[in-house]
Amino acid sequence: MSEQPTIEASDLDVYYGTSQILFGVGLSVQKGDTMALLGRNGAGKSTTMKAIMGLAPPRRGSVSMRGRVISGLKPHHIARAGLGFVPEDRQVFPEHTVEDNLLIGRKKGPDGEDEWSLKRIYEVFPLLEPLRYRIAGRLSGGEQQMLAMARTLMGNPALLLLDEPSEGLAPIIVQRIAELLQQLRSIGVTILIAEQNMHFCLGLANRATVIDKGQIVYSASIEELKRNDEVRQRYLAL
Ligand SMILES: Nc1ncnc2c1ncn2[C@@H]1O[C@H](COP(=O)(O)OP(=O)(O)OP(=O)(O)O)[C@@H](O)[C@H]1O
Ligand SMILES: [Mg+2]
Repeated sequence: MSEQPTIEASDLDVYYGTSQILFGVGLSVQKGDTMALLGRNGAGKSTTMKAIMGLAPPRRGSVSMRGRVISGLKPHHIARAGLGFVPEDRQVFPEHTVEDNLLIGRKKGPDGEDEWSLKRIYEVFPLLEPLRYRIAGRLSGGEQQMLAMARTLMGNPALLLLDEPSEGLAPIIVQRIAELLQQLRSIGVTILIAEQNMHFCLGLANRATVIDKGQIVYSASIEELKRNDEVRQRYLAL
């Protein structure tokens, strides 16, 4: 267990203009983990993800990937280093077909990994195969979320970062996405998932970090979080 964390953020301060949004945020994701970053609306989940991705560069603190410092790099270099980010608004290419979106996302991983082909994507995301020639902009929200995840996996990332994948989706679709994420975890994909919806994460993550008002207030296994009524009530109850 001496392997370096896939991602380690320490002591991040992030500002938007003059207002400080993150205060000394730290979190660490080990290879194979599904880490849930939980917190209420406005707690700082998206900002933490953007800080890791270099989209909201931290004024203080650092982010390392397998021991190598990546904070300070440009976002496209951070992405190329092996971080695959699906933002809240999903950002598929709306004018392109599903399959073209996947092919656009295709690249080798940071160490030349080449695990994800169209064939493998359609095995893991069987709902996408019959949609392959559809225009992405006409897909439902759930289909677009699956496509965004699949397209990002085509880049063979060492870490998949998902910002609120369940947001705005019907419960049955949320369930589908949860099952997909469980499957990704079972095949060894390392995932950091930001969610307001704790229940969505309880069945699929193995670790949890809770953020409140821009500060990390709790970090433990998902089992411990399930047992900790106080933390759930205080920071995660709606
Ligand atoms: N571009 C911005 N400029 C100024 N303040 C911002 C900006 N984006 C977010 N904020 C503020 O930063 C804080 C954290 O926002 P963030 O989007 O990180 O929260 P979140 O946990 O992702 O919330 P949500 O569950 O709504 O997605 C909030 O108070 C928000 O109003
Ligand atoms: Mg957010």
